[in-house]
Amino acid sequence: MTEEPAGRVASRVIDWQREHGRHDLPWQGTRVPYRVWLSEIMLQQTQVATVKAYYARFLERFPDVAALAEAALDDVLALWSGLGYYSRARNLHACARAVMTEHGGRFPRSSAELAGLPGIGRSTAAAIAAFCFGERAAILDGNVKRVLTRVLGFDGDLAEAAQERALWQQATRLLPEHGIEAYTQGLMDLGADVCALRRPLCLVCPLRDDCRAAQAGTQDRYPVKTRKLRRGAREHWWLWLAWRGSVWLLQRPERGVWAGLWSLPEFDSADAFDAATSDWPGRGETLPSFVHVLTHLDWTLHPRRWRLPDRTAPTRAGALAAALGDGRWCALDEALAMGLPAPLRRLLTTA
Ligand code: ADE
Ligand code: SF4
Repeated sequence: MTEEPAGRVASRVIDWQREHGRHDLPWQGTRVPYRVWLSEIMLQQTQVATVKAYYARFLERFPDVAALAEAALDDVLALWSGLGYYSRARNLHACARAVMTEHGGRFPRSSAELAGLPGIGRSTAAAIAAFCFGERAAILDGNVKRVLTRVLGFDGDLAEAAQERALWQQATRLLPEHGIEAYTQGLMDLGADVCALRRPLCLVCPLRDDCRAAQAGTQDRYPVKTRKLRRGAREHWWLWLAWRGSVWLLQRPERGVWAGLWSLPEFDSADAFDAATSDWPGRGETLPSFVHVLTHLDWTLHPRRWRLPDRTAPTRAGALAAALGDGRWCALDEALAMGLPAPLRRLLTTA
């Protein structure tokens, strides 16, 4: 790989960012680490348009890291509900607590130390350190990998750790001497709005003259990553147990899908559902099935609502429900204020 003048790539990104990049996002124009950190975590797997509203609500409820650290995890999860990838919310809370207990309530000021905190990976640490403290540190999230592999014609297989390391080195080599904030934001903006996965907008890209892939017309070959995710599939029958205006909710385990959120009892098959409910008063009502797409998995859910008659005694209703696992009856409006998976929230409000 011949080395294009690194300074030229950086200065083009910076000039472009200043003129054409994004400047009006709510987390721009602040160097407060708490705010920058919060936005970067939210933006990890969620688009800007969605994040804006959540970001504002979070700051209103938890204006600083101390407030977030003091909050109950359930309240954080409830506020996060709908953003997905809930391990981010649990790490967010753990990180706030670590900042309070291990760093005296102040975020550490280097990317190396930031990367030691829960939920802050190398790229996020670099972004926070660049935006807040002007540190010259390279970011390399999925979007930036796409931009840089195309520009450099970097065809190493990023499934291999050595190639990933090599790309980090290249990303570091390209860093500007000055203007790291605009450069970092510029790479993010290019990755999000110009260097798209399909149909990159090379004609308006400031890097087109330096871009190996654009010159060769091989944009769609980058980045190279061979290890294919094998998508799995599974299905469950979901029991919406209703009694006197309440629903029986179980808190999901701390590991796995929807960790820590409140959800419905699950059965592996319709037969298992029928067996569990065979001697119950009332009857089941089949609701429309849907597929919930997870990173590695298509999860088909078959919701069924079972209404226990209002006259069912509390002891009887309690005994039926307790057999489903350790949960609790929640009035519908109470349930909607809890940390629920988005599809359950939708089900409870529409069915
Ligand atoms: N994606 C990740 N970080 C971002 C930021 N600071 N601005 C816009 N999009 C982003
Ligand atoms: Fe991406 Fe095209 Fe710009 Fe190259 S020229 S970085 S492929 S948008």
